[in-house]
Amino acid sequence: MSATEAVDVVGTARDRVDGRLKVMGSATYPIDVTLPGLAHAVLVGSTVTSGRIRRIGVDAAERSPGVLAVITYLNAPALAHASATLRMGDPIGPQPLPPFQSDAVLHYGQHVAMVVAETREQANAAAALIEVTYARDTPLLSFDDPRTSPVFHPWTPDYDRGNVREALAAADVQVNETYTTAENTNNPIGLFATVAAWDGETLTVHDTTQHPHGVRDRLAVAFGIDPAGVRVLVPFVGGAFGAGLRVWPHVLLAALAAQVTKRPVKLVLTRAQMFTTLGHRPNTIQQVSIGASRDGQLAAIEHVSRSSIGMADELINLITYGTPHAYVCPNVSTRATQVRQSIPIPGWMRAPGEAEGSFALESAIDELSCALGIDPIALRVKNHAHVHPETGLPWSSNALLDCYRQGAERFGWPARNPEPRSMRNGRQLVGYGMARGALLAYQPPCKAIASIRRDGTAFVRSGATDIGPGPYTVMTMLAADCLGVPIERVQFGLGDSAMPRAPQEGGSGLTGALGNAVHATCVSLVRAFVNLVSDDEGSPLKGCRLEGITVRNGGIHITDDPARFETYASILTRHDLDELTIEGESAPPGETSSASMIVQAGRFIPYTAPSTGSRAHAGGYAAHFVEVQVDSDLGTIRVARVVSAVDGGRILNPKTARSQIIGGIAMGIGMALLEETVSDRTGRLVTTSLAEYVVAVNADVRDVDVLFVGQPDPMTPLGTKGVGELAITGMAAAIANAVYHATGTRIRSLPISIEKVLGHERPHSAEPFR
Ligand code: MOS
Repeated sequence: MSATEAVDVVGTARDRVDGRLKVMGSATYPIDVTLPGLAHAVLVGSTVTSGRIRRIGVDAAERSPGVLAVITYLNAPALAHASATLRMGDPIGPQPLPPFQSDAVLHYGQHVAMVVAETREQANAAAALIEVTYARDTPLLSFDDPRTSPVFHPWTPDYDRGNVREALAAADVQVNETYTTAENTNNPIGLFATVAAWDGETLTVHDTTQHPHGVRDRLAVAFGIDPAGVRVLVPFVGGAFGAGLRVWPHVLLAALAAQVTKRPVKLVLTRAQMFTTLGHRPNTIQQVSIGASRDGQLAAIEHVSRSSIGMADELINLITYGTPHAYVCPNVSTRATQVRQSIPIPGWMRAPGEAEGSFALESAIDELSCALGIDPIALRVKNHAHVHPETGLPWSSNALLDCYRQGAERFGWPARNPEPRSMRNGRQLVGYGMARGALLAYQPPCKAIASIRRDGTAFVRSGATDIGPGPYTVMTMLAADCLGVPIERVQFGLGDSAMPRAPQEGGSGLTGALGNAVHATCVSLVRAFVNLVSDDEGSPLKGCRLEGITVRNGGIHITDDPARFETYASILTRHDLDELTIEGESAPPGETSSASMIVQAGRFIPYTAPSTGSRAHAGGYAAHFVEVQVDSDLGTIRVARVVSAVDGGRILNPKTARSQIIGGIAMGIGMALLEETVSDRTGRLVTTSLAEYVVAVNADVRDVDVLFVGQPDPMTPLGTKGVGELAITGMAAAIANAVYHATGTRIRSLPISIEKVLGHERPHSAEPFR
């Protein structure tokens, strides 16, 4: 490297900047927060699934040692509901109803009482003394219950292109099958906790959330106070996978407990409560019909889904969302209905809807390939959507064909004998399966603020969260490149609603949203320095323009004359400034702002978004290749090998991005083979611990190989597409397709249990509901 060459940190594999803190146990999660005079709240959950509270006996609990308050619907202050129009400024949909506002019980485990005491042990002891009697109703536990009502959600309207019925009837070959997916529960390792403290009319809350500003706004509505009077802090989250996207009732209850007792209060959910009060991925039944010509050209796709929703909830669930533009196909119809059930409030779990929808669609495509005798990759390549199937616009970026090609080569797909049950390794039946993965493009608005201080350090921050994917790390890298400040001298802050407004870390949209905001803000900060020196006689940079400079080594030099260099610290000192601070925000995808620049090796290259309406904004793509080994006697299934080829646009840090893909694969293995939230026939949850609800562990996740292909997406200066949820889409189908190839048994019902493989249990599709 020559002395004048600046080098980008972005794009290199870097360790997490917060890794050391985490492994040393020094990262403070909400559960770790303690305050002087802290009291402890515990929750009592309904033991029935549906009905009314007839009586709550609290006398013994109130007399129990250390108890400060027992709160139920009978004595709880009114909490205002956030109307459906309160979308937190971001399209995450309405929030659950406020707790303790009536005697109605809508699901098992619903909070019906709260005890606040000096210690958690005292609160638990008192909670055990509370006696609740109920008037029970018959819960709704089947989609076919005539009393239930279907819900059509505005975000998943009916979709029709061409005439599916006619095209199906005329097709040479048809596949028409029903697929089911089980209810799954997010199960982050970190127990969700809220610590709330009032000071007059102001409220400070430490809360396990993916969205500090959302929690702030929801609390402000509930308690009728100014959002500016609420501060939400969450520097670290011990996993969430979507469980922290909504403002759950316990968050409001913690603030209520603090208000009633006039003490700071900590509320930590139990693992069992994590199953009933933080949302979950609802179960689905999906019918997919595909018609094709003998040579494998798709003629029609129909995708009809029903999924569960709680008795009083709303949820955006994008089960059929990706189907209309998955393949080139003239006739497509989708329907997505939600059916009210007496179940805990559902939420979002990694790739909500798309994980389930892709299982059905990509299983059906595999079934078509078997019916036609065409290789499943060849069938997908033949029907690849080279342009957006609806608008005909070219994709902003789409390397799916490269994913198929490079993934197949890395995996060794040509060694596959297409005949099911034809490959063996001793007693193990060996199966190769593959599927397509895809995730919508999503970038909500985001703001950031950046400072350079007189000591030459940079501090960039935004009220976002890092639930594990690595925003702390990649935003530090990005700021270092944009400012030309060595990465060791850059600090990135997040997890505080007092910082500029950021969206939830969700929908795989945060890296794009926050990254483009950090990018634009840092460009504006450098521009502010340029303005400061442009007619500064004392600066070697006098007369410089943004287009002619390079940032590096904590300062700016003229690109064509590296000797003309000055550090930010020197500029600030001469101008007698302690720091220079600029607030900025991201431009929406497809829009150009004055701060829209591409920063490369310290230089600022003007960025222009593609002209309006000229491109279809593409999300991420993946091709998954899976080898399973199924014991021919015992039916045990091992995912021996996975190769995932991923088009995630520009990859900011291959190390953390790869971890995201591995995480998605691990959860895909769980979804396909292990995970099932089970209720009994009265609607009570049976699986309420990690002993009963089985997630994929290290022994289940063996040889995983991740390949990044593709190019930066041109719709934003940053060029990312989001990888947090991409890998779980299509993953369960790839495994199911491999199980079929290994065994000759097609399982259309998740999870693919040993019993189903051995044929000892009727697949759910015959009798799909509890
Ligand atoms: Mo994800 S379900 O958008 O956290």
